[in-house]
Amino acid sequence: MRPRGLYIHIPFCKQKCNYCDFASFAGKEQVRQRYLCALEKEAAAYADPSYTTLYVGGGTPSLLTVPQLQTLGRMVTKYFGPVAHFVESTFEANPESLTAEKIACLRALGFNRLSMGLQSFHDTELKTLGRVHNAAQFLTAYQAAHRGGFENINVDLIAGVPGQSLQSFSTGLGRLVEVNPKHISVYGLQIEEGTPFFAQGVTCDQGLMRQMLEKAHEVLTRNGYHHYEISNYAKPGYESKHNTLYWQNGSYLGLGSAAASCQKGVRRQNEPGLEAYISCVEAGEKPTAFSERLTGKAKEGENLLLALRQLDGVELTARQRAWFGAEIERHVKNGLLTQAGKKVKLSKEGLYLANEVFRSFVAPFEDA
Ligand SMILES: C[S@@+](CC[C@H](N)C(=O)[O-])C[C@H]1O[C@@H](n2cnc3c(N)ncnc32)[C@H](O)[C@@H]1O
Ligand code: SF4
Repeated sequence: MRPRGLYIHIPFCKQKCNYCDFASFAGKEQVRQRYLCALEKEAAAYADPSYTTLYVGGGTPSLLTVPQLQTLGRMVTKYFGPVAHFVESTFEANPESLTAEKIACLRALGFNRLSMGLQSFHDTELKTLGRVHNAAQFLTAYQAAHRGGFENINVDLIAGVPGQSLQSFSTGLGRLVEVNPKHISVYGLQIEEGTPFFAQGVTCDQGLMRQMLEKAHEVLTRNGYHHYEISNYAKPGYESKHNTLYWQNGSYLGLGSAAASCQKGVRRQNEPGLEAYISCVEAGEKPTAFSERLTGKAKEGENLLLALRQLDGVELTARQRAWFGAEIERHVKNGLLTQAGKKVKLSKEGLYLANEVFRSFVAPFEDA
């Protein structure tokens, strides 16, 4: 069966983190039930039992109460089949809201993978980031999840936290390696417009961040993790099936505010605003904010860019070679790409300068 992904967005957070521009909102307790009803109504329009992976992300899905998690589970079962039937079903959780009761509920519903946001093992750095948990809460929640039957857990880390030294990054990474999750994502901090960090004029030392990302590669590969995508490491066999679908031009459906879909060559995004999304669905309208069909060079360029995020590289199609051959040649010459047989991939240097390469595959094209 060709893999197909189902994504469900839960846009609620306890507090907005200082770096985050994801479509999520602090508080809004009184809207959560209405949001779940809107989700159910949207899901009903796309009922289909053939999705192979499920990802419930946010926001902070673990903020939902046990009865709300059960509602979500019933909704998935009714329109897409039991959660336990998906090859991979991931639930995103933050340390402060993942209780033993919720862990038991998620397991009973059939979820087989957790993705936990740790970001840093140092409490001062967590404070700087605006996180509402500390490192000890992460450890307690992680151990409860592991004991509760989740053996496939991803943990997110951020490199380049303001005030973070290479030493403190390395110590935190070492502690995470001792925890031994099956999957680790390491993201270099991005200062996004509209966030408190942006307003405060926070800047990143790109040289230091690169040293941290190189350290992550060195330590994690030495400890048995497979570096399979720019930001992602997994013990063999634990690479994320759902996220891989995004990098391999797969088909996916996104439900909920701001959720993105890509099906039959059309990609679209739902209304990012909570009220806009809910009122659209309640009125019986599609909550689509934007939709486009990428074709020709733009489509081939996007496929290439996404595929190149994977460290294994990509076998070029004839059209990609025709449209992007000269640009690829240029990046091979400047050392950012390497070519072996029919395959092209990011070089060791290109891994840290990937955006330089990706620019060549996005419209407006320089030769246009
Ligand atoms: C969908 S987000 C949030 C998941 C979850 N709510 C949490 O906070 O742990 C997934 C991950 O993206 C990363 N992330 C979000 N914004 C970022 C930024 N501006 N720079 C770098 N990483 C970021 C964080 O590591 C975060 O855990
Ligand atoms: S990083 Fe996670 S918890 Fe923080 S605001 Fe963004 S989605 Fe919410």
